[in-house]
Amino acid sequence: MVKKITLIYGDGIGPEVTKQSVRVLDAIAETFNHEFIYERALLGAEAIDATGEALPQQTIDSALSADAVLFGAVGHPKYDNDPNAKVRPEQGILSIRKALQLYANVRPVKAYSNLAHLSPLKPKLLEKVDFIIYRELTGGIYFGEKETATDNSWAKDTCIYTRTEIERITHLAYKAAMTRKGKLTLVDKANVLDSSRLWRKAVQEIAAAYPDVKTDFLFVDNAAMQLILNPSQFDVILTENMFGDILSDEGSVLSGSIGLLPSASIGDKAALFEPIHGSYPQAAGQDIANPIGSILSAALMLDHFGLHTEADVVREAVDWTLINGFVTKDIDPVNFYFTSTVGDLISDYVSGKIPGGVNRTNIEYRKSTII
Ligand code: IPM
Ligand code: MG
Repeated sequence: MVKKITLIYGDGIGPEVTKQSVRVLDAIAETFNHEFIYERALLGAEAIDATGEALPQQTIDSALSADAVLFGAVGHPKYDNDPNAKVRPEQGILSIRKALQLYANVRPVKAYSNLAHLSPLKPKLLEKVDFIIYRELTGGIYFGEKETATDNSWAKDTCIYTRTEIERITHLAYKAAMTRKGKLTLVDKANVLDSSRLWRKAVQEIAAAYPDVKTDFLFVDNAAMQLILNPSQFDVILTENMFGDILSDEGSVLSGSIGLLPSASIGDKAALFEPIHGSYPQAAGQDIANPIGSILSAALMLDHFGLHTEADVVREAVDWTLINGFVTKDIDPVNFYFTSTVGDLISDYVSGKIPGGVNRTNIEYRKSTII
């Protein structure tokens, strides 16, 4: 299979984690006889520095002609404390979502039993946690009409949803529920917001077409609480843009490190894959960031190409590193391995260079020696 991939490193730790994914993808290509052709493109602060724009047209063109986009991270501290900045790195990711019509953001959350100690929740609560968030990504308050008074005495953002925007992601979420535990939870604020009441109506109607899926409804404030009190009750969580943004960061805590979690942003014609973590500027360039969120995003991209066996091999390799303690500093601050070492091990595993039995002493020499 030949696939063209637009590669966007982005800001902060984006380049170093994405490079590990490329190595893993190259190992997959070699082992399974595929060809992945990469085209580099710019987005975020790196794009502003080079072109003055957060999303140059060349990046949109590249993404539109590619089979998928693999993206690193966006954000730079020099813009964070400057509310007057004319152009912000984050506009790059928001604009590409809109330009490619990536309306469904899919974020799987899973708790690893051997990492339970990293989560602030009691291990008992983490048993069987395995859910997936379907977050609407191109509508709602993120993209509604905005305005700020010239004298800064008021500002407004509008939350607007069309029925079509709700329906298309709802069908995707139901289809996912049918292949999983058969439960879908719509998270909204239908006791207060008109837009949420429209979501509820639309989802109630669509539910009839999926009789094998049990549908339930939670207000977002209660959902935020349930995610901590009883996270294993969830299977597919369907929600609008901003609630999904907030709940997915909350959900990431369950897995032990936000560095582990991947995401896929899907439209009818395009797809973009990115870890859910941000640009983590404090760690940039130090080879200490966790590459697994990016590598698992690459696995979701392989799934998107229909290469499920290949995707499973990547996930198996990731599980192998986690189970054997070949982990980055976010997971083990004392005995940690570098970003590039974890990338090496995962690509070596994929290439079959690491046989069933692990010879730990052969791997130890690749460990951090400069702590
Ligand atoms: C995310 C991020 C983005 C969002 C930011 C960087 C604009 O938090 O992908 O969750 O709010 O969607
Ligand atoms: Mg977010």
